[in-house]
Amino acid sequence: MKSIEIQKKYLHFFKSKNHAILPSAPLIPENDPTVLFTTAGMHPLVPFLLGQPHPKGNRLASNQKCIRTTDIEEVGDETHLTFFEMLGNWSLGNYFKEETLAMSYEFLTGKQWLNLDKKRLAVSCFKGDKNAPKDTDAENTWLSLGIPKERIAFLGKEGNWWGPAGKTGPCGPDSEMFYWIAEKPAPKTFNPKDKSWVEIWNDVFMQYNKNEQGKYVPLKQKNVDTGMGFERITAVLQNKRSIYETDLFQPIIQEIQQRSKTSNTRAERIIADHIRASVFLLAEQVLPSNVEQGYILRRLIRRAVRCARQLELEHLGSVAEIIVKEYNQRYPELKKNQKFILQELAKEEARFKATLEKGTRVFEKEIQKLKSKNIPVKLAFDLYQSYGFPIEITEELAKEHKLTVNKTAFEKELLKHQQLSKEGAQKKFASGLADHSQETRKLHTATHLLHQALRQVLGNHVQQKGSNITAERLRFDFSHPEKVTEEQLKKIESIVNEQIKKAVEVTYKELPVEQAKKSGALHFFDQKYPDKVRVYSIGKFSKEFCTGPHVENTSEIGKFKIQKEEGIAAGIRRIKAVLE
Ligand code: SER
Repeated sequence: MKSIEIQKKYLHFFKSKNHAILPSAPLIPENDPTVLFTTAGMHPLVPFLLGQPHPKGNRLASNQKCIRTTDIEEVGDETHLTFFEMLGNWSLGNYFKEETLAMSYEFLTGKQWLNLDKKRLAVSCFKGDKNAPKDTDAENTWLSLGIPKERIAFLGKEGNWWGPAGKTGPCGPDSEMFYWIAEKPAPKTFNPKDKSWVEIWNDVFMQYNKNEQGKYVPLKQKNVDTGMGFERITAVLQNKRSIYETDLFQPIIQEIQQRSKTSNTRAERIIADHIRASVFLLAEQVLPSNVEQGYILRRLIRRAVRCARQLELEHLGSVAEIIVKEYNQRYPELKKNQKFILQELAKEEARFKATLEKGTRVFEKEIQKLKSKNIPVKLAFDLYQSYGFPIEITEELAKEHKLTVNKTAFEKELLKHQQLSKEGAQKKFASGLADHSQETRKLHTATHLLHQALRQVLGNHVQQKGSNITAERLRFDFSHPEKVTEEQLKKIESIVNEQIKKAVEVTYKELPVEQAKKSGALHFFDQKYPDKVRVYSIGKFSKEFCTGPHVENTSEIGKFKIQKEEGIAAGIRRIKAVLE
């Protein structure tokens, strides 16, 4: 079965079960400063899982683009990826265990759906601990659906619990479905440790909210959150051991092989994965840089450049072009931004090629002097600072020479240099959920005021390029060709403070997307929105597409103060501000 058909069937199935089909949200979360990327289909739905009504109802499904970087070093084996797609369905306090498990089973085994062999299916359920009881409800449902008792395993939190994605947020026990992929018949008893059992789907029963104190508080609304890795299910249905052998990757791998002078499976896979992720990030206007999402993008491109060097593959542009071609039908933002994607990829490729050779020579010279098998942190750091080597590249070079790098020590050094608190950085790199505290809400509303004030003072060309809000400060990126002068900053600051002083009410309306756009509410032009969106207004002063949360009145905000204005990329400026 072709991958595209699997996706169509999934969405069609859930539509037939009265689910609203949502478009994929962006990879860069809009209102969640605690994470760099959308890491799961449930991520854009957090406010709704916590109880806010969703404009499209309480039965939802989507195919969501995601990025996870925790296993970035593993990419190149059969299964790991940075960018991936996730098929998912949700119940926001509507159906619960019995219905979701029955639907999952029907979709997996139904003749007109995936038609998987029932004899090759197994499941796991939560075995219970001090936070939640053993999930006999899930077990009984599976038994009634026809799964034999020996094919039901019980695991603890490590295997059958999902979330929260960050420190706090919705979570709960889950039940996972596995498929036997070896040629010989599946054993009678399910052993989750046997690698021939591949996990294909995860149904999470989101019934708790983990709070700041680490307590699991039952949610008023019992939700379901399911996730099926699109690449993984495609590999199963196409009878492939590796996701890179599926039709999602083959055209990309073939392009790489055709243009390379030598072959190396791992390097080919790293290029395919990393350039695929890079193309999607560039399509959302992320630029390679030394911070946050931009630094992940830089690492992805640079590692691909080094792999290309190993393969004697001259340019990565044609690989990116194939990706645009293959994915454009489902993600039109790729074609729309093709020129920008290719241009920026080529620039970063050229920048790194200029230092890769030199840095590699320095590495080779320095290791001659080593007395142990460890690369000194200083060398790893010099390679990073002077030659732009992300740590993965130094690690790979080290491995090739049978040496090791102390990554933790490197990261410590890096943090020291970036003057970032370790806690702050870890928070950013872990996946987490938005903090909806009062302090963050204040700064969020202040960000809307700032956006409008910028447009009043600098002009209507100002568009939001990103925002990052914590309980301590806000950061707002926007398009503007030159430095904002002191005088302009003063004016912007005073406009925001004027709106705060006026004690303006903050309200929202749910509107059909076209009507919302016509109303003049600010939004991202390139982004696909669902049919119904929420528009937040601050009196008559500001109107924006936004899912919230905000304060109710600007008088709650306090005094707004701009701390810094700087350029972060060509034509993009950043303002940092606090409340006093
Ligand atoms: N959130 C769960 C996961 O990512 C199910 O969607 O696996």
